[in-house]
Amino acid sequence: MENINNYIQQNKERFINELIELLKIPSVSADSAYSQDVIDTSEAVKISLEKAGCDKVEICETNGYPIVYGEKIIDPNLPTVLVYGHYDVQPPDPVELWTSPPFEPVIKKTDIHPEGAIFARGACDDKGQMYMHVKAFEYMVSNNCLPCNVKFMIEGEEEVGSVNLKTFVENNTEKLKNDVILISDTGMISNQQPSITTGLRGLSYVEVEVTGPSRDLHSGLYGGAVANPINILSKMIASLHDENNRITIPGFYDKVEELSLEERTEMAKAPFDIEDYKKALDLKDVYGEAGYVTNERNAIRPTLDVNGIWGGYTGQGAKTVIPSKAFAKISMRLVPNQDWEEITELFTKHFTNIAPAAVTVKVTPHHGGQGYVTPIDSIGYQAANMAYTETFGIPAIPVRSGGSIPIVALFEKELKSKTILMGFGLDSDAIHSPNEHFGIFNYLKGIETIPLFYKYFVELSK
Ligand code: BES
Ligand code: MN
Ligand code: MN
Repeated sequence: MENINNYIQQNKERFINELIELLKIPSVSADSAYSQDVIDTSEAVKISLEKAGCDKVEICETNGYPIVYGEKIIDPNLPTVLVYGHYDVQPPDPVELWTSPPFEPVIKKTDIHPEGAIFARGACDDKGQMYMHVKAFEYMVSNNCLPCNVKFMIEGEEEVGSVNLKTFVENNTEKLKNDVILISDTGMISNQQPSITTGLRGLSYVEVEVTGPSRDLHSGLYGGAVANPINILSKMIASLHDENNRITIPGFYDKVEELSLEERTEMAKAPFDIEDYKKALDLKDVYGEAGYVTNERNAIRPTLDVNGIWGGYTGQGAKTVIPSKAFAKISMRLVPNQDWEEITELFTKHFTNIAPAAVTVKVTPHHGGQGYVTPIDSIGYQAANMAYTETFGIPAIPVRSGGSIPIVALFEKELKSKTILMGFGLDSDAIHSPNEHFGIFNYLKGIETIPLFYKYFVELSK
């Protein structure tokens, strides 16, 4: 496949420009103000799949945003790769912290990306990484070297929990039948050291509401005599971790799988510099569960984090008030074997139990999903590793990631196939943050590496 590098050299301007066009559409799934843009993006993805060489592309309507499905079946006897990705993006807020507007993509050089990186919301998560697959496919079709069947399933609701995709997958198991699922929606260690994500954490996301008095009160007239919901909520949240930073919800750790010393030793071999880590985040020190190092805390251990907290007066100046209500959004990252619905229940029970009689508590579950781990002795993993070894010159390291793609566990349950997570992003690419970007190197390296995965997967499947 020596042609791929020529093909990339000849077409790279176009590859970059096409991605830039896709990034200009603000497909924010969480905010209904953008709903037409999300729909427009699904159309753009459909057209790109048709142009790249799919025989059939459909917009599959759901109760939410559409799923774009495309396929090229060259021989039913050959293996089938199912590519999953998402065309929706996170909200760009806080917009004022972007150095260039989030939906006006620009290429800028950074220390980590001396060849330049495309700055835009969704550049890395996941439009850029999804589009690598479209371009790799285009190459294989136009150069007559597609070695197997391909199905694409690109959704528009990943960032809001993939609720409708779940139904779609359950109802279309035959259509989506495959031998391996390939996803680029994770990261790798560095541009010099590729890695393959072998685990994702599960997620339980809840919102809590604490109500004290039925109306806002004067904090002088009533202060000290009634429960202040913000004070109470803060206390309740603080009590959810103990002095070792372990979560205090009864039963929370019951199903957590403890890794063996061998596995932990293996994990510790991945290159990681704690000083660089602190420096990159301007931290004086790291923080987390006692008995575990940073790369364990953010990958193999479950967590509980407040994602947002509000209530009372936050405008200019001072207003003396005891608010009627206080709110928080809380996420729990889970590890394999922890069931997200069970954890949501444990949380709800505990949080309601610890509330003093002076307030009422309401817990509203949002979305969630199970964690995932995949073995490294599968054909899919081996094929991915061979592909990385060829394009990076060194083998990939298996890494468990702290992020979540809840639909991956569902794929395994419904479609009975393993997912290979070939991520080309970097942790420093600022996904979900202001100034998200995706390295040109990473984008093109992805396009170069993906066809090799196909080649080796088909070879190893024989
Ligand atoms: N692509 C990310 C997940 C990710 C990023 C996994 C980097 C591993 C490394 C995905 O789009 C995402 O943001 N997932 C959400 C969960 C979803 C239910 C909103 C997450 O992890 O917060
Ligand atoms: Mn993503
Ligand atoms: Mn995301």
